[in-house]
Amino acid sequence: LAIAATAALAAPALAQTDLPADADLRSAALEWFEPIPDTPQIPAGNVLTPERVDLGAMLFFDPRMSRSGVFSCQSCHNVGLGGVDGLTTSIGHGWQQGPRNSPTMLNAIFNIAQFWDGRAPDLAAQAKGPVQAGVEMNNTPENLIGTLNSMPGYVDAFKAAFPDEDAPVSFDNFARAIEAFEATLITPDSAFDRFLKGDDAAMTDQEKRGLAAFMDTGCTACHAGRNVGGQDYYPFGVIERPGGSVLPEGDRGRFAVTQTADDEYVFRAAPLRNVALTAPYFHSGAVWDLHEAVSIMSSSQLGTELAEPQVDEIVAFLGSLTGKQPQIVHPILPVRNAETPQPQP
Ligand code: HEM
Ligand code: HEM
Repeated sequence: LAIAATAALAAPALAQTDLPADADLRSAALEWFEPIPDTPQIPAGNVLTPERVDLGAMLFFDPRMSRSGVFSCQSCHNVGLGGVDGLTTSIGHGWQQGPRNSPTMLNAIFNIAQFWDGRAPDLAAQAKGPVQAGVEMNNTPENLIGTLNSMPGYVDAFKAAFPDEDAPVSFDNFARAIEAFEATLITPDSAFDRFLKGDDAAMTDQEKRGLAAFMDTGCTACHAGRNVGGQDYYPFGVIERPGGSVLPEGDRGRFAVTQTADDEYVFRAAPLRNVALTAPYFHSGAVWDLHEAVSIMSSSQLGTELAEPQVDEIVAFLGSLTGKQPQIVHPILPVRNAETPQPQP
């Protein structure tokens, strides 16, 4: 034992990752990743007319979509904060604290499905959730439709956004308009994207070492594709479960969706685009420091203890995933009137 310990001490401290040639690094990376496109992808069963996208923006920013009149989508997915609220877990209706951290809606269209457990197949299905969730907006579809119908400005905007429909003001169309707006919330042109597209100078040497380490150590087994994650489901704690503050026992992830024992503590691999902007981390929001999140991943998912220089490199690489943030002008909203339902506690 003494000899082994001495040998371990004598081994050189793990050094930084070798810097590969740019062309080799790029072709290795293109096996795993794709750049964020410069123009939005059209969601299935939807269209991105300016009228529909603009209506979606109005609905996204309008706190009157909540029962209290206090919460909008923007409350928890702030377009000026990388699409999150920056809280451990979100606070919603009546100052209730929800069970999970708010994930960003930026680039969410590129994820396999929505929510940490993937329980909503797409953004339109997703948008019907928070409005009705007791701890979020605590509204009912009836009260929401009543609110929209009370304001001629909204009735006209729905007609323009859904011109061929007899009853354009509907809960389905509310969700489709929000989906159309969210489809435009993409963040192309990160340093990483520019590197992927051929600009050697777009990333620093430290970021390139981090990209190499991210692929070599096996992060890419779970975080790949356009969003560097968000493309499949894996057990959190596949090698070693993190403690209950990071992985609370009561939240069994995809088990609640599939009722299959194999899905206990299975979550969607978190999409890592813009991750430097979206602390705190994990569905529990328990970890504020990205270094710590990376270290937890290496022990829980890879069963290795990464050397400090490699953690630094990987964190630098993750920083290169911050893209051009959408510049959104706050929409002008229709004025309420005597017919508009009053806020309720
Ligand atoms: C999840 C959009 C309102 C908190 C999501 C996701 C989207 C989204 C797209 C999934 C993102 C992903 O999985 O990567 C919206 C829209 C809203 C809205 C369109 C308005 C209609 C809110 C509000 C809150 C909130 C008001 C906070 C009170 C959360 C949380 C999750 C989530 C905690 C994760 C829940 C889970 O995984 O179980 N939202 N959101 N959202 N949102 Fe919202
Ligand atoms: C979450 C990085 C390896 C599966 C995360 C997060 C980071 C990260 C920073 C949190 C993101 C956020 O909260 O927004 C890494 C790095 C890895 C690695 C740097 C390599 C050292 C893996 C592997 C797997 C995996 C190999 C699958 C076996 C997941 C899952 C989540 C996650 C399922 C979501 C956990 C949750 O529910 O909170 N990863 N990861 N990761 N990663 Fe990894």
